[in-house]
Amino acid sequence: MARRLTTRDIRQRAEDGGRISMITAYDAFSARLADRAEIDIALVGDSVGTTLQGRPDTLGVEMAHMLYHTEIVARCTRRALVVGDMPFGSYQCGDDRAVENAVAFLRAGANAVKLEGGTAVAPLVARLTRAGVPVMGHVGFTPQSIHQTGGPRVNKDKTELLSEARALQQAGVFSIVLEMVPAAVAKEVTAALDVPTIGIGAGPHTDGQVLVFYDLLGFSPDFSPKFLKRYMDFDTQALEALRRYKADVESGRFPAKEHSY
Ligand code: KIV
Repeated sequence: MARRLTTRDIRQRAEDGGRISMITAYDAFSARLADRAEIDIALVGDSVGTTLQGRPDTLGVEMAHMLYHTEIVARCTRRALVVGDMPFGSYQCGDDRAVENAVAFLRAGANAVKLEGGTAVAPLVARLTRAGVPVMGHVGFTPQSIHQTGGPRVNKDKTELLSEARALQQAGVFSIVLEMVPAAVAKEVTAALDVPTIGIGAGPHTDGQVLVFYDLLGFSPDFSPKFLKRYMDFDTQALEALRRYKADVESGRFPAKEHSY
């Protein structure tokens, strides 16, 4: 049986020149598929707010929701490193409560937590890592700050990104997500760091890549950012299947003899 990957394995992979695959997972279905595909990291993303909860953004996602999904993903994976995404408000509420919230993720089965931000969260990251909680950083576009940024935007500020990423590395993160960063800037940031970078909309030079499960499988036909590659068209195929089922029920073609006791 495959053993579960650790944060050390992830760092080692990058040091050896290998690439890291990461995907979001929220439920038994996505977690089991990700694990069977041997994706290295299952991120229980706060994107659960937009993908499963039908919200316009991630800001309404709560700790209780994240712990619920983290338990499921941890239960339904054997190999993937499980990272729990700390939701908005769960680490901006004072460091003592933030540590309690991060510990709750580990108790729910996560192997690490992710939080958004650079210099501003570095002291908290240092405290968490000292307490034994592995942390993944996240800089560039940070979806929890949409009311400040005005929405998704490419962050081209190399000096700012470098200092944010270095502050996180210094604080002890084991890896950093770079979201919506020009490829050339992501390349320089990656080269400047010892810890692996994992890109989403950050070009090909990061140590790893992450996409949202539902986006890459084509569940969300109206969401088409430049960085997204769809590997199947689930929405069209599922709609077609449901329409055929409805037509079969209405015409009496289903259930047929072979479906009946
Ligand atoms: O919540 C999420 O899905 C994420 C990834 C896009 C990195 O944070």
